[in-house]
Amino acid sequence: MTFERYGTMNVNEAGHLEIGGVDTLELAKRYGTPLYVYDVALIRERARGFKQTFAELNVQAQVAYASKAFSSVAMYELMAEEGLSLDVVSGGELYTAIQAGFPAERIHFHGNNKTLDEMEMALDYQIGCIVIDNFYEIELLKNLLKERKTKIQVLIRVTPGIEAHTHDYILTGQDDSKFGFGLTNGQAERAIEEVLGNADVFDCIGLHCHIGSQIFETTGFIMAAHRIMEQLIVWHNKLGFDSKVLNLGGGFGVRYTEEDEPLEPEVYVREIVKEVKKMALANGLSIPEIWIEPGRSLVGEAGTTLYKVGSRKEVPGIRNYLAVDGGMSDNIRPALYEAHYEAVLAASPLKEAEETVAIAGKCCESGDMLIWDLPLPKSSAGEVLAVFCTGAYGYSMANNYNRIPRPPVVFVEDGVSRLVVRRESYEDLVRNDLPLY
Ligand code: LLP
Repeated sequence: MTFERYGTMNVNEAGHLEIGGVDTLELAKRYGTPLYVYDVALIRERARGFKQTFAELNVQAQVAYASKAFSSVAMYELMAEEGLSLDVVSGGELYTAIQAGFPAERIHFHGNNKTLDEMEMALDYQIGCIVIDNFYEIELLKNLLKERKTKIQVLIRVTPGIEAHTHDYILTGQDDSKFGFGLTNGQAERAIEEVLGNADVFDCIGLHCHIGSQIFETTGFIMAAHRIMEQLIVWHNKLGFDSKVLNLGGGFGVRYTEEDEPLEPEVYVREIVKEVKKMALANGLSIPEIWIEPGRSLVGEAGTTLYKVGSRKEVPGIRNYLAVDGGMSDNIRPALYEAHYEAVLAASPLKEAEETVAIAGKCCESGDMLIWDLPLPKSSAGEVLAVFCTGAYGYSMANNYNRIPRPPVVFVEDGVSRLVVRRESYEDLVRNDLPLY
């Protein structure tokens, strides 16, 4: 039997699944389960791929890691090492980035409801730019900047009215969205006028849009780039506005299962650049700097979760449930989005499947299922199951439902493993609780 390998994944001499040159059974033994394992070489490869493509095409660019996909000090250090910029969406992500020593000038702050405290924090740290999302925010930030007699670079987030081909819950580019200013309904133009009218505090460097997530085609990006460039021509003539930066967000798809056929990340970049250049040249505009914000495509496939198999329940004529020692507390995506995953037994990833099982989590909820139909060799309690492609929105959406402590995170590279997030303890769980009396 074969399985789809990601990054440095390999089957070692003992026949075990190996990642980054480290035996996953050793990892499970050393750090316990559940355990998130990240293949650092694969993350580096992806980061370099995006950057190199821009360099080859000879355009000014920034590749900002959308850190909502997985945020931790070590991950920020890694992204800084690779020369990426950073997209943060909360005070918590910003704080973590600063703790990691991430260069503040390469941090971009997103969000549809940044609080006053978060804005102040962003100004205190002198981050690179704030992505303005709505009129309330223009007012809030304007007053704050005037008070402080300072100025900051901003991007205006627009919704170009394009629906990306993906799961409904994670669409953000269409008109009916909580994010950004509508291009078609005139709100974006009002926002630009407002921001340009306050040039003493706002240095408006450009526009931003994000059309969705887990997108497998370049069409949506090309349409978005085209639509925005069209609008920029109008604003160039009407408002004298020249966008130095065009940020087209993230959303590049990854392979969760054999049904997914993602493009090479570089393909998106090439197509986006082609469209922007074409539009700029045809209309006498200078080519803006192109920024992108990949999250999932940088870290998704690099993550694998190791679980230990526990109880087994056989429902005659229906299905066999195998329960693992984690579930929706460390990966809520199947429950929330009906997301699909593939997995193997870490001790025998090449062994022929002998049955189809349903992988259940251990949470008190029927919907806590990780995989509904997984072909697997016969397994017994205590064996390690490796679930692939859990690197994005796994740990970052983990929770303490049923007071289950969050698992640790390990980075593996060149035969060495490094603990980068500790396992939560029971003490951690009660740390913020106060007694009744
Ligand atoms: N930029 C902006 C403004 C975004 O809103 C997002 C994702 C990204 C970049 C990164 O998108 P990516 O390259 O990771 O697709 N929890 C959901 C995904 C929510 C994505 C929200 N925004 C999931 O687990 O699928």
